[in-house]
Amino acid sequence: MFITFEGIDGSGKTTQIKLLQDYIKSLGNQTVIIREPGGTPFSEIIRDILLNKDIEINPVSELLLFEAARANLTQQVIIPALKNGFYVLCDRFYDSTTAYQGYGRQLNLDEVLNCHKLATLGLKPDLTFYLKLSLDESLKRSAHKKADRMERAGREFFLRVLDGYDAIAESEPERFVIIDAAGDIEETHRKIVSFITRKSPNK
Ligand code: TYD
Repeated sequence: MFITFEGIDGSGKTTQIKLLQDYIKSLGNQTVIIREPGGTPFSEIIRDILLNKDIEINPVSELLLFEAARANLTQQVIIPALKNGFYVLCDRFYDSTTAYQGYGRQLNLDEVLNCHKLATLGLKPDLTFYLKLSLDESLKRSAHKKADRMERAGREFFLRVLDGYDAIAESEPERFVIIDAAGDIEETHRKIVSFITRKSPNK
């Protein structure tokens, strides 16, 4: 089963993925956690380029770099892990690109979606948890951190990203589960587990 997590900075994706991994392991299943961009030597180098605040990258180059990192990760790690029966838990996947590069950078959405197909060989997550947080709460939670290149994009950009996530969630209600990220960690975890159980009752 392929499960992805989406949400802006500070939404608690990393904490929730870890909790979900522990739960899935406790049932005797094998899992792997992956973070995008990254996860292979090639994709980690691209990650360093994408997040480097001293490098200027135009929106199309940015899109193609995220997709190049994704293509490598999908073919080298995700597809083989799924074939071997692992639960693959991914911290961001192509919905991030739709939200950030499509809506945030305002690239043509059809072209962006075609890039996903090319990069993923058509692979789709079975379930996507969108940990929804307001921009103000996100900024409050990440105020202590040094901003990377993406995080310097500005308020208008992030408001468009949030609109993007809402639009994606609305267009694929079967796959996209919206969860209030401002809530309690344990409560959020319980909600996530209940969706997993519903989606794969015999796993
Ligand atoms: P990361 O430190 O992993 O952020 P987070 O902890 O919020 O997931 O950095 C990844 C950044 O790249 C983040 O700002 C979101 C952005 N991003 C895109 O713009 N497009 C993408 O396709 C992906 C995967 C990430």
